[in-house]
Amino acid sequence: MAKAKTVVVNQETCIGCGACVAICPDVFEMGSDGKSRVKKLGNCGKCDCQQAIDSCPVTAISWKK
Ligand code: F3S
Repeated sequence: MAKAKTVVVNQETCIGCGACVAICPDVFEMGSDGKSRVKKLGNCGKCDCQQAIDSCPVTAISWKK
């Protein structure tokens, strides 16, 4: 079974660049406010969310402990 890892998006920090949605569309989605949110917890594992974390220009994404 895949490890259930979860990420969180800091809504204060996100500027809506969309990089995370492009990299991990199973995990992130754009909200109506133009900011990214995690659409389904536990989807991490199918894609590389670390890549999304590293790609965010404002470091708004982090692993949830
Ligand atoms: Fe926001 Fe960063 Fe994604 S700015 S849209 S959390 S890559």
